[in-house]
Amino acid sequence: MPHKTEDDITAEVLARFSATPDPRLRQIMLSLISHLHAFVKEVALTEAEWFRAIEILTAAGKLCSDKRQEFILFSDTLGVSMVVDLLGHRKPEGATESTVFGPFHRLGAPELPPGGNIAHRDTAGTPAFVSGRVVDLAGRPIAGAVLDVWQAQSNGLYDSQDENPDELHMRGKFRTDAEGRYALRTVVPVHYPIPSDGPVGAMLKATGRHPWRPAHIHFVVSADGFEPVTTHIFDRADPYLGSDAVFAVKDSLICDFVRHEDDAEAARRGVAGPFYTAEFDFCLKPAAGGAAADVMDAQRRLAALGAG
Ligand code: BEZ
Ligand code: FE
Repeated sequence: MPHKTEDDITAEVLARFSATPDPRLRQIMLSLISHLHAFVKEVALTEAEWFRAIEILTAAGKLCSDKRQEFILFSDTLGVSMVVDLLGHRKPEGATESTVFGPFHRLGAPELPPGGNIAHRDTAGTPAFVSGRVVDLAGRPIAGAVLDVWQAQSNGLYDSQDENPDELHMRGKFRTDAEGRYALRTVVPVHYPIPSDGPVGAMLKATGRHPWRPAHIHFVVSADGFEPVTTHIFDRADPYLGSDAVFAVKDSLICDFVRHEDDAEAARRGVAGPFYTAEFDFCLKPAAGGAAADVMDAQRRLAALGAG
């Protein structure tokens, strides 16, 4: 009886999975086994390396809680989240592009009136006023669209990472008016490092990568009859735009945060000292079949895994 080769093992495993009744699951499992085995053979993975990989995955699992999602961080820093995002959200010309959801969305953000302040506790940050419109592909206003907004504080931490992790801060939901307009007050976003005290941080360090994300504000914009978009707006002045740790920057999402030093205008807006303004319009494409429901379902599941 000839010795079994590694290719014999691969063939045997593929044959075992080939009876999977669900065709999509069968396709995924057969492809996964083929690629996984090919990878192990290509790098001639040693037993020590294989055990190290299992230790890393075990450590990632142990770190996960309702405030921390190490597997989303792995997916993001390996670029997988952005590939999945691009495959799932092909956009027609003009529609706002999507980007990573990230691990810091939380359910239950308060509904705020137009111009409402999401940064009421952030006295160290520089005030910023963000406004614009939500429109359809023909440029017509979408009234009653909901913008779910979240952002890191000016200390670079999300509320769930800070002193009172159970209190919501830097989050709000805004609704567009009859002209499709929205407006909110916040602080100028800052660049910040993704959590790097766990296995993902160790991977970044060992591979000579930095953990920084360029300054941004997160949005999920949704409206009846349209496909929701999960996205960010990025500050054009940020030095990390070209090297985002999670590969999420798209040119169309970069916007200008403009500094103002007009004391009278600051007083009129209810702030002291310099402030910034940013204008960004969101364009939604019509919902196609069950797409909108699928996206919302995926977001709810991710939020429940993360800090939801
Ligand atoms: C974020 O922007 O909140 C984020 C996205 C991906 C990984 C870590 C943080
Ligand atoms: Fe973020």
